[in-house]
Amino acid sequence: MNRRYLADFEISRISHRFTDVLIIGSGIAGLSSALSAAENQDLEVLVLAKGDLEESATRWAQGGIAAVVLPERTGDSLEAHIHDTIEVAAGLTDEENLRIMVSEGVDRVKGLIELGTGFDRHTDGGLQLTREGAHSFARILHRGDTTGQEIARSLVEAVLDRKNILCRPGTFAIDLLDREGACIGALVANETGELEAVWARQTILATGGAGRLYRETTNPSVATGDGLAMAFRAGAKILDLEFIQFHPTTLYLAGADRFLITEAIRGEGGVLRTKSGEAFMERFHPLADLAPRDIVSRSILEIMKETGDNKVWLDLGAIAPERIRERFPRILELSRSFGIDILSQPLPVRPSAHYSIGGISTDSHGRTSVPGLLAAGEAACTRVHGANRLGSNSLLEGLVFGHRSGIVAARAAAGIARPEPSQAVDPGGGSPAAEAAKNPGGDLDLADLLSSLKSLLWYKVGVERNGEDLSNALEQLSTWTAYPLAADFRDVESWTLQNMLQTSWLLTYCALRRRESRGVHFRADHPERDDVNFRRHMSISRADFST
Ligand code: FAD
Ligand code: SIN
Repeated sequence: MNRRYLADFEISRISHRFTDVLIIGSGIAGLSSALSAAENQDLEVLVLAKGDLEESATRWAQGGIAAVVLPERTGDSLEAHIHDTIEVAAGLTDEENLRIMVSEGVDRVKGLIELGTGFDRHTDGGLQLTREGAHSFARILHRGDTTGQEIARSLVEAVLDRKNILCRPGTFAIDLLDREGACIGALVANETGELEAVWARQTILATGGAGRLYRETTNPSVATGDGLAMAFRAGAKILDLEFIQFHPTTLYLAGADRFLITEAIRGEGGVLRTKSGEAFMERFHPLADLAPRDIVSRSILEIMKETGDNKVWLDLGAIAPERIRERFPRILELSRSFGIDILSQPLPVRPSAHYSIGGISTDSHGRTSVPGLLAAGEAACTRVHGANRLGSNSLLEGLVFGHRSGIVAARAAAGIARPEPSQAVDPGGGSPAAEAAKNPGGDLDLADLLSSLKSLLWYKVGVERNGEDLSNALEQLSTWTAYPLAADFRDVESWTLQNMLQTSWLLTYCALRRRESRGVHFRADHPERDDVNFRRHMSISRADFST
């Protein structure tokens, strides 16, 4: 667990590149920070993405983005948005950051509209707003059920339009580089797979979440927790990793990808039913189908245990067909491709891993515990979501704190010199070359390890947890990490698996330590919330494991 760099490298033998603000990630957080950093036109901003620029959780977002943009029309208020967020957050919200997100979010969302993001509108031109679970007002801006695609499109276009922003899709960040404890850029595998040192005055990690650690997930392939693992290896403080939010309704069809079925469907009148037709959510919560996600997810599992089925059914019968066509065109099309017509048939659904609430600890400007390193979006933990996230608040968080990080990074970058290439990167437990792993890892069946890892997390560190399963999982992960994490791989798939192993170990360790149930973290052996011992954020860093 204490390895500092995944790749063996000699700094004098690899190519170098300089930039002012390096941003790793091209989702809503990375692109918002790029746009605000690039306001200082004397600086160069470099955005890296491991796939295409639009390959991100951002692009996959369906339901929308929450913001109080029309209070006079809806009766909504900033206070109501803050209140709803606190209500689901199970006692752990950072109220100062939450207030920043909700209040600055209004202008940031208006800024998105100015950039050309086309949210749905009524025929009179007014914005359409919808309501989702645990929101007390209709405050979600959306574009059909492909909101993220529209946001990603407009942000990517805006970024490509700026002369001082350079984008390098297909570039994989392997590790952060540091000198005297401060981050000075990143070691990357460039577009042709060559190792390269990118020296930067300031670095922002916007690498998204880690849903792909789980067998069942709504997340895209890029969500493998790379940023968390990189930040951990570089010594950054990580918070609340145990809080993984499970989305209650993912399409469950053998052989099909686990496609998210947006909560907005239940906002519009969709009802969860057992196979025999019972609308069971009324049994579990006064808000029935609009109860907070953790409750809906656990209720579905309860019903699955009760009925012996491996899924439940989402019935759209109460929504007018015209409304379904207009509001959920993608889900309509996708379901039809699997032979289900949602205008007349219910959808088979079950929960899956959706959102990483914890992450790299940041202040309200995105600064981490490592000088020169900032983080934003799902990779970061601003503590606004506490122990449970209100739907449609994460795009908002990425937008607001991405913007703030970019401003602060640009300001800091303008005040310091570009780092010189040097051999003197902090070794952190052995010089990179000396630390070079002696095993090439060639004898490992990585595909098998990946599949076992995802199953382990799903079954032992999933929606319902208990101490015994978590201990067993941690032991298993310790065995699995020992050899592969020390191996000297040379390709992106293997480095990604190493990141996934490391992040899984940390997540499981954190879940074992929190011996209570709070928000999305449910421990069957400690079913009650324990405010005396656990009403606090739990941090972890590399220093905790130094011997
Ligand atoms: P992402 O958008 O995931 O971007 C991560 C970026 O980091 C990518 O560009 C990736 O290439 C890059 N990256 C990662 N690792 C590396 C590396 N090693 N090297 C280089 N680049 C790297 N939230 C809402 O608020 N409303 C919604 O309606 C909503 N719907 C959702 C639906 C789905 C199916 C999913 C999966 C999530 C949804 N969410 C929603 C959550 C929300 O989409 C995400 O939390 C948010 O988009 C995260 O943005 P981000 O910028 O932090 O990361
Ligand atoms: C959804 O559309 O249900 C997802 C919204 C979110 O995760 O915020």
